[in-house]
Amino acid sequence: MNIDPYYLEWANLLLRWVHVITAIAWIGSSFYFVFLDNNLEKPTSPDLLEKGVDGAMWAVHGGGFYNPQKYMVAPPKIHTKLHWFFWESYSSWMSGFALFTLLYLLNAKTFLIDPSIMVWTEGQAVTLALAFLLVFWLIYHRVCQVFGFKDKGEWVVGGIMLVVITVASWLACHWFAGRAAFLLMGAMIATTMTANVFFVIIPGQRKVVSSMTTSVKLPPEQLAIYGKQGKQRSVHNTYFTLPVIFAMLSNHYSFLYTHPERWIILVLMMLAGALIRQFFVQRHAYHAGRAKNPLPYALMGVLVIAGVVAYMKPEPTQTSSDQVSTEKVTYSEVQKIFESRCYACHGAQVQMKNLRFDSPAEVQKNAANMYQQAVVLGQMPMNNATGITAQERQTIKRWFESGAPTTP
Ligand code: HEC
Repeated sequence: MNIDPYYLEWANLLLRWVHVITAIAWIGSSFYFVFLDNNLEKPTSPDLLEKGVDGAMWAVHGGGFYNPQKYMVAPPKIHTKLHWFFWESYSSWMSGFALFTLLYLLNAKTFLIDPSIMVWTEGQAVTLALAFLLVFWLIYHRVCQVFGFKDKGEWVVGGIMLVVITVASWLACHWFAGRAAFLLMGAMIATTMTANVFFVIIPGQRKVVSSMTTSVKLPPEQLAIYGKQGKQRSVHNTYFTLPVIFAMLSNHYSFLYTHPERWIILVLMMLAGALIRQFFVQRHAYHAGRAKNPLPYALMGVLVIAGVVAYMKPEPTQTSSDQVSTEKVTYSEVQKIFESRCYACHGAQVQMKNLRFDSPAEVQKNAANMYQQAVVLGQMPMNNATGITAQERQTIKRWFESGAPTTP
């Protein structure tokens, strides 16, 4: 693919903008409805009971009072416009998948494949990445169908999915570049969330609505099943939100995705997210007098995070002073390194991120960022494709500390 890197950067930014906005809308409404459900109170007034209201609540917001009422499964008739909630989910998935395609699938060689982890052809890596999205949904869907409505079914589904996610994380981190693996894990779970909306929740709601508005009447037991299935999947989605957002954000933090134990670190952080979400879900019900105190979940979540933070703390590096050279480094010295290690992707032919380092002026402009990427973070060269040595990184460091000269 040969798109001008300038436009590629714009496409990336604009898609990311859309993606974050739609995801906020989706997760916001998901949070809101979970809150609503957990705070509804059984009505006592005869007129509400007569209407068939199952739960109602009062809220104040934006200068007025709201009085939502829930019918389980449906009211006898709806007289005004019925609002649906699916575009938030679909547009989050579509913008996310477009971004994933633009960044990772179309640039598989740079972003998806890390030859020091596993050597794939681009076709293999792309197929495999897409398989993660599909297979995870198929497994999850089956597990819900088989165990979802059994006694203690939620725990069985939760336990099995934790195992499946752990295995998936291990595989992703042993098959793909660390950063791609983290993003893929997030995309995999997020795809299942949208599939829940697309394949289960919305079709069920459509059947209920058509049973209300057309002459094809479904038996009440059947309607109740659609109601229960929809509720189950939307509750699962709420537990997925925090883990997915962590996975999406964490791929910007190289100290996480380059860690040797990154697969379990990701799983633990996602688990902490789900526990903390459980705290918030149960908190609503607790205040409504319907559940136990949820604090232990929050504490467990925080404890897991604290454990990961402590576990990952790097050993202080021993730098014996006699080994560190403080000699100044000239531009011509460092230019040789840039030429052999950076020009391949930031030179006349290719300009990743719209950056090139093959002239003193450009190097001067980007010196701080180059130092940051190649020395501090060690992220560049990308997946060390050009085989930079630790010594060369030290030379770049000393050059930067010499004031980053760009005259010979
Ligand atoms: C194999 C290709 C490749 C090589 C070699 C390479 N880079 Fe990069 N570089 C990239 C890609 C791809 C990006 C965009 C990364 C992103 O979007 O996060 C990038 C981005 C950057 C950025 C911008 C980071 C940011 O987000 O602001 C800097 C700075 C950078 N590289 C410096 C270097 C330096 C210095 C070298 C040589 C030591 C180097 N790169 C070698 C592929 C490469």
